[in-house]
This record gives sequence, C-alpha cells and structure tokens, in this order.
Amino acid sequence: MAKIDIVIIVAAARNGVIGRDGDMPWKLSTDLKRFKALSMGKPLIMGRKTFESVGSKPLPGRPHVIVSRNSKIEMPGVETVRSLEDALSRGRALAKSAGVDEVCVVGGGEIYRQALPLADVLHVTHVETEIEGDTHFPAIDPAVFELVEETRVPAGEKDNYATCYAVYRRIPA
Ligand SMILES: NC(=O)c1ccc[n+]([C@@H]2O[C@H](COP(=O)([O-])OP(=O)(O)OC[C@H]3O[C@@H](n4cnc5c(N)ncnc54)[C@H](OP(=O)(O)O)[C@@H]3O)[C@@H](O)[C@H]2O)c1
Repeated sequence: MAKIDIVIIVAAARNGVIGRDGDMPWKLSTDLKRFKALSMGKPLIMGRKTFESVGSKPLPGRPHVIVSRNSKIEMPGVETVRSLEDALSRGRALAKSAGVDEVCVVGGGEIYRQALPLADVLHVTHVETEIEGDTHFPAIDPAVFELVEETRVPAGEKDNYATCYAVYRRIPA
C-alpha cells in the first residue's frame, strides 16, 4: 500500500476567516458537495468544537476521529483521542483497513493550525470575500506548498459567494 497522505480540506475567505460563532459564515452548497466527494470513505479528523458544529453526529460513510483533551465522545463511527498525534496514527490505521490512501483533516482553526506543518496536500476553497469571523486558517507558505490545481467556481443558486478551488502539495524537502 502506498504512503497515506495527510490531507487538509478547508474553505477560507481572502482574509483567512473560516468560522464565526461556532459555525461557518456562509452557505456554499457547491463546496459541500465537493467536500463530500473528496472525503467519502476516508477517515476524518476534527476538533471537538467542529464536531459539535456539525450537530454532534457523524457524517455518513466516513469514520470520525475527534480530538479533545476533556470530552469522550463515543458513538458508532466516532472515536475520541487526546492529541493530534494520536488522531493521525488512528486515522492512518483506519485508512489502511479501509484501503484508502488519505486521512482528511477537516478543522477547525485549532486543529488546522497544528496539522498544517504535517500536511502533504491542501484542498482549499478560497471564498471570494473578506468577512468577519473569529476563526482563521493560517497563511499558506509558497516556499512549503506549491499550487498544483486551480478552478474558478461561479456562485451557484445555493452559494453565497464565488470561490476558487485550489490544490496545494508539499514541496519535497
Ligand atoms: N471553513 C471551514 O472549512 C471550516 C471547517 C471546519 C470548521 N470550521 C469552523 O471552525 C470553527 C471551530 O474551530 P475551533 O478552532 O474553534 O475549534 P476546533 O479546532 O474544531 O476544536 C478545538 C478543540 O479541539 C480540541 N483540541 C485542539 N487541539 C488539541 C490537541 N492538541 N489535543 C487534544 N485536543 C485538542 C480541544 O477540545 P476540548 O476543548 O474538548 O479539549 C479544543 O477545544 C467553527 O466556527 C467551525 O464552523 C470551518
């Protein structure tokens, strides 16, 4: 089996905002469909607050690893670990047994910040707005990640904004 990549999936505004008051500051139906397609069948790693933001129930078809120092969330398809390191090792084991070659790190701000230095691939939906918020994605260093794909996506009927979907890959050291 090939190496298992650590893949970050995020939607971020031009000013880096990804969240506000425990939720996303936009409705982007087209992007949610892309998120589903990108992550289906793969283990998801997320912070406890992001799990709560999606209604404290797992998204179908993807094993969930929740990172929390204090809570113990256990339900079918969901397990909790105490550190990002444990989450990645559990995620890799789940990917291996599912026969997939990616673990998806899906937020939120705290988890992205810690996972970015470890990530191999970034799927970033650049939301074409500057917006107020309380949670941010860090700047992507072009000396570390190269842009390998970019697609402009006009706002559909159920999207608040146009977006630009970009894929970045870590430049080999
Ligand atoms: N735009 C996007 O693509 C996107 C994606 C996901 C989320 N979001 C947004 O992001 C916001 C949530 O992000 P957030 O930064 O507030 O929270 P978060 O990263 O989802 O979760 C933070 C929690 O994770 C746990 N945690 C973090 N680092 C840990 C570590 N090293 N070891 C153990 N546990 C750790 C702690 O849980 P305990 O407090 O339980 O110990 C911490 O309170 C929401 O607004 C959400 O809508 C946006």
